[in-house]
Amino acid sequence: MADWVTVCATVSTGLESIAVKECKEKLACKSIREGRGRVYFEISVDSFSEVKILRSVENLFIVLKEFEEGSEEIDCFSSDILEKFYKLPQHLEWSLALSLWKQFTGYEGILFKNETTEGKRLEDGTVAPVDCADNQNKGEDPVGEDETDSDSKENPAKRIKRSNEDPHDELQDNKCDHTLMKNNSSENGSLLLLPRFRVTCTRTGKNHSFSSPEAAAKFGGGINDWFGWRVDLSNADIEVLLNIVENHVVIGVSLTKESRGKRNIVHFGPTTLKSSIAYCMLKLADIQPGDVVCDPMCGGGSIPIEAVLNWPICAHLCGDNHEMAPPRTLANVQSVTGQQADKRKSLPLDIYQWNVCNLPLKSDSVDVFISDLPFGKKSGSKHENWNLYPKALEEMARVCCAESGRAVLLTQDKRVMGQVLNKTEQWKKDLTLWINMGGLKAGLYVLSRTKK
Ligand SMILES: C[S@@+](CC[C@H](N)C(=O)[O-])C[C@H]1O[C@@H](n2cnc3c(N)ncnc32)[C@H](O)[C@@H]1O
Repeated sequence: MADWVTVCATVSTGLESIAVKECKEKLACKSIREGRGRVYFEISVDSFSEVKILRSVENLFIVLKEFEEGSEEIDCFSSDILEKFYKLPQHLEWSLALSLWKQFTGYEGILFKNETTEGKRLEDGTVAPVDCADNQNKGEDPVGEDETDSDSKENPAKRIKRSNEDPHDELQDNKCDHTLMKNNSSENGSLLLLPRFRVTCTRTGKNHSFSSPEAAAKFGGGINDWFGWRVDLSNADIEVLLNIVENHVVIGVSLTKESRGKRNIVHFGPTTLKSSIAYCMLKLADIQPGDVVCDPMCGGGSIPIEAVLNWPICAHLCGDNHEMAPPRTLANVQSVTGQQADKRKSLPLDIYQWNVCNLPLKSDSVDVFISDLPFGKKSGSKHENWNLYPKALEEMARVCCAESGRAVLLTQDKRVMGQVLNKTEQWKKDLTLWINMGGLKAGLYVLSRTKK
């Protein structure tokens, strides 16, 4: 067994450097490198489960194989590339990635046809292929997008029972199952115990002669024939990723069923911020023990909740002028509290309904302001921002500790923010990071409070 495994973590584009820093700080990892919207690192198999503690990242996957640009094995511009994708699964070294995936996700089913009956794992670490020759799924399009999967760890045995009870439900959406149910041999019975999978292909490159669904279908067809795993786009146990950037191909096994950016929040508002972005904003503020940290426009509370969870030795407060926002924040706080070991222990966060332009706080009383301002699209309007931003920054300057105070503000309205920052003498712009938020380019402004 190899000692090290490569993990890829996705991160909002523009925040890669913060994710790299977090990996260095928290993990015993090596060979960290950045890609666009992702970071790669190697971690020892023994400490693999520690990747769970990362907060700046969204999705995690184990890199099964990486074909660098110019690799002799894969040429994405060749005419037979789809056939190559089809044959690829039988040449990949799956064992380590799958055993770590099992350990990480807690999946309890079998992975290989002969795993329980004959234990027929070949000595070189590869697995015995299954005979799924009349599998009607061959060539089906297994490409899929992220979906929430509440039933993800369902025991395969339970599924069999369900499909026996009402086979028609199961058969309608899964032709492979149809074949298996028809034959009903013991061999095919064991195939039903195998996991369901899907391939998700992401592709960048203008001159490929294939589409993402075609690549996913071919690669997925190869997996289906090699392992006998059944395609299931909406309720897959295993998601295999095929990432193609021009002539660079990365194949991975996903560790996360849904983006970790959605943690903490169960009551979503119109503009809920990903917790992973909130964490990165907080990191940029260089919070110190004892600091008073405030989000004056908190919406459903993604920033203050992430702040309390990661910087517990601070005083945290937040508020919003919308009547629905403070109760929403409270409901999210209660949900997080309910997931903690000690459910009686609430999060130390004070929540207010207030106007950021007139805060009920004395001067020089807050060390760090962190906020995700109304962009003027889903929240507020560009017109209102001309009035709101100067007043909000002035009030935050009053309340923020002169000279030592900081603010990290996120907005897509760079025109208004640019003008306000040009005019004010109370805030100094230390850094602007441009990040991609669902296709929108937003600015993350790191400010320090001046003496004035
Ligand atoms: C982009 S949203 C914040 C979203 C939040 N980060 C979340 O994850 O839910 C901006 C928030 O600013 C609030 N807001 C707008 N004007 C405000 C004001 N004058 N005082 C306080 N809050 C205000 C809005 O009600 C909205 O909830």
